[in-house]
Amino acid sequence: MTPMLEVRDLVVAYGAIEAVKGISLQVQAGDVVTLIGGNGAGKTTTLRTLSGLLRPVAGQVLFEGERIDRVPAHEIVRRGIAHSPEGRRIFPRMTIEENLELGAYSRRGKTAEIRDTIDRVYALFPMLGERRGQPAGTLSGGEQQMLAVGRALMSQPRLIMLDEPSMGLSPIMMQKIFSTLVELKGQGTTILLVEQNAQAALSLADRGYVIETGRIVLEDNGPALLGNELVRKAYLGEE
Ligand SMILES: Nc1ncnc2c1ncn2[C@@H]1O[C@H](COP(=O)(O)OP(=O)(O)O)[C@@H](O)[C@H]1O
Ligand SMILES: [Mg+2]
Repeated sequence: MTPMLEVRDLVVAYGAIEAVKGISLQVQAGDVVTLIGGNGAGKTTTLRTLSGLLRPVAGQVLFEGERIDRVPAHEIVRRGIAHSPEGRRIFPRMTIEENLELGAYSRRGKTAEIRDTIDRVYALFPMLGERRGQPAGTLSGGEQQMLAVGRALMSQPRLIMLDEPSMGLSPIMMQKIFSTLVELKGQGTTILLVEQNAQAALSLADRGYVIETGRIVLEDNGPALLGNELVRKAYLGEE
């Protein structure tokens, strides 16, 4: 089966410095795939390249069998990939609903359909619906993360990429975000999850990749990586 997303020997640099040094990975439709690794490993650089915000120096990215590594970011969204960025990047002075509407820019004009998707996001995150008219800046960190995920869903992606959705959240909020991901997967959304929280991500993932200084050093199914000795030592804080 052709993978939904295929990354082949991807190299990404900032000037002379290579941040991603030839990584390859695959995401099958319907799966949750996680990319785990420490600070500075190249996770965000990878996601920003997949969504067209950075251009690779070498390598290929294929989505549903077609090259997208030279396709503009807005066109990648239109084709079905959404990106919830690191650090959330919501607009604090705009209302929750206005933030969600921004996520639907690739579908502008389709007012009724956009309305349906907003309602779907409110069904997934009732708290956002209850507070739809409030400035997004009044939300807690965890709630803002939900808004960032909700906004990414507004383009009706087939693949959603999340960059460290658990960063800075309380364990309860983190659990809420992760249980929403399970619900999304149940609805048929494919997920590429970037995380430093290896335990949580691998518990959820069908497949995982471990990235260290721009290279994939391990790949396996979620349970196998969770039991892997190197992963346990390096990422789960075990002796
Ligand atoms: N805008 C940038 N300019 C120069 N170097 C950068 C930039 N962004 C990230 N880097 C470097 O690229 C490497 C990978 O960073 P990043 O992709 O953000 O890692 P991660 O998301 O895994 O923490 C790091 O060494 C980082 O310092
Ligand atoms: Mg990062």
